[in-house]
Amino acid sequence: MRKIRTNVINPIDQDRAEFLPDHVLIWSSDRITALRPFDPRLDADAEDKHESLCLPGFIDLHVHLSQYRVRGLWEPDLLRWLDKFIFPEEARSHRPEYAKEVTRDFFHALFKAGTTTSVIYTAAYQHACETAFEAARQLGARALIGMTMMDANCPADLRQSADSALGESIRLFETHCNSKHMLKYIFTPRFALSCSPELMRKTGDFIRANNAWLQTHLSENPEEINEVQKLFPGKTYTEVYAELGLLSERTILAHAVHLSEYEIGLIATSGSSVAHCPDSNFFLKSGEFPYRDIADKGVKIGIGSDLAAGSTLNMLHHAKMANYRQSTYPLSPERLLWHITLGNARILQLDERIGSLDTGKDADLVFLNTPKDTLWNRDILSRLIFCPEEFPVVETVIAGKTVFSVGS
Ligand code: GUN
Ligand code: ZN
Repeated sequence: MRKIRTNVINPIDQDRAEFLPDHVLIWSSDRITALRPFDPRLDADAEDKHESLCLPGFIDLHVHLSQYRVRGLWEPDLLRWLDKFIFPEEARSHRPEYAKEVTRDFFHALFKAGTTTSVIYTAAYQHACETAFEAARQLGARALIGMTMMDANCPADLRQSADSALGESIRLFETHCNSKHMLKYIFTPRFALSCSPELMRKTGDFIRANNAWLQTHLSENPEEINEVQKLFPGKTYTEVYAELGLLSERTILAHAVHLSEYEIGLIATSGSSVAHCPDSNFFLKSGEFPYRDIADKGVKIGIGSDLAAGSTLNMLHHAKMANYRQSTYPLSPERLLWHITLGNARILQLDERIGSLDTGKDADLVFLNTPKDTLWNRDILSRLIFCPEEFPVVETVIAGKTVFSVGS
């Protein structure tokens, strides 16, 4: 059991958040059992974090574990960047020892950034994906994890056959399908350029028959889209995925920067979600995400770091970038906080358990230090979103267990 005196910011819905100064938060085992104003008569025994801020743990909807060591390497063009830095680095995870080291560094950095749930791509090797599951289980992470599938247009050392990519993915799915809420498998065909129609069709058949999760990249960059049109003449990028059966309510499409109205409509009808990765989109000069057009059509939008094209695992940074990278459409601090907590939880169909600090939910949360001149009023949320470096993480808790704490 933990009982802590602190200040809470809690998302309520996409346009509202509450600031709860000087409260007591209690959890027992993995669940929150109380959140109420501090009462000196009842709460003399509470741990004192009354100068900290407590928020629900952050949720990263799109991140590449096996790229952790090549973040920030400049090459402002997606396909060249993949060839120059990403494919060679992912191929290094062929060595089990290397995969283990990258995995350990990744989870340590993830928890240090206050992220409690993440949707992860690993390299195209079954052992690298198993290593990620093993580490996530041992360290106590909550995650959806998938082995990247590639059977076309990629270096030989990363290329799988359609049968082995699908067969290994199904084995991973079956091995990990019983872990309930903490860990799940997510099918991960990289994108239309590196997966054959046969692999995508069979994967689509499997996910629909088994109600499984799937993630891929969609319409990130003009040159990529041109290449897709050469491989699939007469079809838009979204139609390629729709016709091969990849779009469902458990599908997460990263980027979706360049879409026609018709394509946005297809995504809306399918119930699939979009992982917006603003930092990545401007690093690779992919373009400006049409937030308003996509939101107006009722498509669920979440936010991802997309490390290594995104520079950091800090989701507060990506929330800020989501605002900065709309040239005319303003996104409020309440909306941005909601995206990286409850909104992303809703996309993952986990909003009954995580995403906000409510009695009965799982204790997934983060404590942040506050600057000396903190605004102890509702404006604190705006300061937090736009000056995130002033609020370093001091403790991260997942399902009631501390996974990161400063000084330990
Ligand atoms: N498209 C296909 N693979 C990738 C990747 O690893 N990162 C990004 N940003 N886009 C991709
Ligand atoms: Zn990505």
